[in-house]
Amino acid sequence: MTSTTTPLAIRCFDAGDTDAVVALWQEAFPEYRDTTRPQRNPHLSIANKMTTQPELFFVAELDGRLVGTVMAGYDGHRGWMYSLAVDAAQRRHGIGTRLVAHAEAALTARGCPKVNLQVLCAKDDIRGFYEALGYRADAVISMGKRLGQYADAAPAASGAPA
Ligand SMILES: CC(C)(COP(=O)(O)OP(=O)(O)OC[C@H]1O[C@@H](n2cnc3c(N)ncnc32)[C@H](O)[C@@H]1OP(=O)(O)O)[C@@H](O)C(=O)NCCC(=O)NCCS
Repeated sequence: MTSTTTPLAIRCFDAGDTDAVVALWQEAFPEYRDTTRPQRNPHLSIANKMTTQPELFFVAELDGRLVGTVMAGYDGHRGWMYSLAVDAAQRRHGIGTRLVAHAEAALTARGCPKVNLQVLCAKDDIRGFYEALGYRADAVISMGKRLGQYADAAPAASGAPA
């Protein structure tokens, strides 16, 4: 694995990062561009995270430019990791690895004994990324149910979470 040659800063998300994060997510996560799934609204995701453990929402900055994100959360039993994304032009330089390590360290510092994450079945290559970092598939199936105003949201045709 190569390392970044210029210093990479990982820090907590700030409201001023919103536009850059939304642009990054829209490129990295096609579901954020799917207008038939209004529940997949990056602005809503950010606003929600700002009310729940906002200190576990991290961004990576390279030369003053936002190049990566990761969100984590700890519910007192398990930690979860979401929204790991690196700017397409900056991939394979170790930034994703650094973001995961940063989130893991923050969860560990809270006493979190295990972190879970979900990878879409269609993203086989991403599974390889996590396996290279020591993650292993658990013998479980992931089940979910939408609550509240999006309870009736139709599942995505791709099989991705609605
Ligand atoms: C997944 C992602 C964050 C990885 O970021 P990254 O900065 O490129 O990752 P790293 O450079 O730290 O990769 C470390 C190692 O993981 C493995 N790896 C990374 N991306 C991989 C890929 N697409 N396929 C296979 N292995 C991969 C390699 O072993 C790599 O080391 P190498 O470059 O020396 O071969 C990035 O590809 C991304 O943003 N993808 C789109 C969004 C996404 O799907 N996020 C995950 C949601 S679960």
